[in-house]
Amino acid sequence: MATLQMLITSSLLSVFVAFLYTLVVSGQFAKFSKLELPQGVTGPESAAFRGLLFLTEGPFTTVTDGRILKWQGPNAGFVDFAYTSPSRSKQLCDRTTDPNLGPICGRPMALSFQPTTGLLYIVDVYFGLLVVGPNGGLATQLAGGFKFLTGVDVDLLRGDVYFSDATLTFDIRNTTQPGFKPDSTGRFLRYNPRTRQVSVLLSGLSGGGGPAVSHDGTFVLVPELTGNRISKYWLVGRRANTAELLLNNVGNPNKIKQAGRPGEFWVADSPGFMPPTPLITPQGVRFNSNGVVLQTVSFATQFFNKTISLVQEQNGNLYVGSRGTNFIGVYSN
Ligand SMILES: *[C@@H]1O[C@H](CO)[C@@H](O)[C@H](O)[C@H]1NC(C)=O
Ligand SMILES: *[C@@H]1O[C@H](CO)[C@@H](O)[C@H](O)[C@H]1NC(C)=O
Repeated sequence: MATLQMLITSSLLSVFVAFLYTLVVSGQFAKFSKLELPQGVTGPESAAFRGLLFLTEGPFTTVTDGRILKWQGPNAGFVDFAYTSPSRSKQLCDRTTDPNLGPICGRPMALSFQPTTGLLYIVDVYFGLLVVGPNGGLATQLAGGFKFLTGVDVDLLRGDVYFSDATLTFDIRNTTQPGFKPDSTGRFLRYNPRTRQVSVLLSGLSGGGGPAVSHDGTFVLVPELTGNRISKYWLVGRRANTAELLLNNVGNPNKIKQAGRPGEFWVADSPGFMPPTPLITPQGVRFNSNGVVLQTVSFATQFFNKTISLVQEQNGNLYVGSRGTNFIGVYSN
């Protein structure tokens, strides 16, 4: 009897601890503020930070007019950091929202820092996979010939760069055309900086998003934006170089990023986006490496009916990126 009682007490205790963790440690992210882009600039798809803990700079973000901007604090706001197109002119491109200028101005979609070298890896719809040094400026192309790259993440242990290609058939301009239909020709890729080779690891994926390498480098999570699922691609062990389904029925998962606690992740979800429904419900979902959903935070009050592309946790705050806004949303406790 005593054992049973202890068992009940200890399981009640663990439920209570889990409850306390949700409430206090992880919090509800009820406070909201905006990091506004410069006047006329839109579409901050990503939010990456450089450095560690309290010595971080950023967020750095990728915007519709082709620039990579860096947040310099509330007085200076966002300032120019880097760009992807060798023929980009500030006069023609700054503040443009014309999708047809993309091939001239660039359209960067995602960022990932390699902390030991300070290199910033970038994927751009028109200019492929690129890298830029710690001082920014014009990025150097590492691999090209893609239609629609959407996500990138560096493996901190080995230096390999994982990235995702939404499709072989259309680019970002097609997604807003009437009658647009997504397909299943997306790919998950790896760039090896030592051999400078790109390998295709998975193909036939339904839509892009952004992969995330686990904190211990044992696997990479791969979302399928229009396939509504997330797979786990093993890098080591018995199952190395194979994928397994981790989460099903996720509503249009876009970029995935490591959460603050090792072994946990945030994914930016926009259920209702594809196939289109009258109302999109943007939300951040925190889950662990076993595919257990731990928390869902709704962003609908501030991002009403807009798709979101990224949820980045940094020092206990959530930074939310979207193609449809002129700000990065910051949720804190
Ligand atoms: C994408 O848009 C371009 C430019 O409007 C058009 O030429 C092309 O046929 C479209 N492709 C698809 C797959 O819809
Ligand atoms: C939500 O946005 C879509 C287009 O993105 C639009 O068709 C729809 O009417 C909007 N719904 C509401 C309730 O505003």
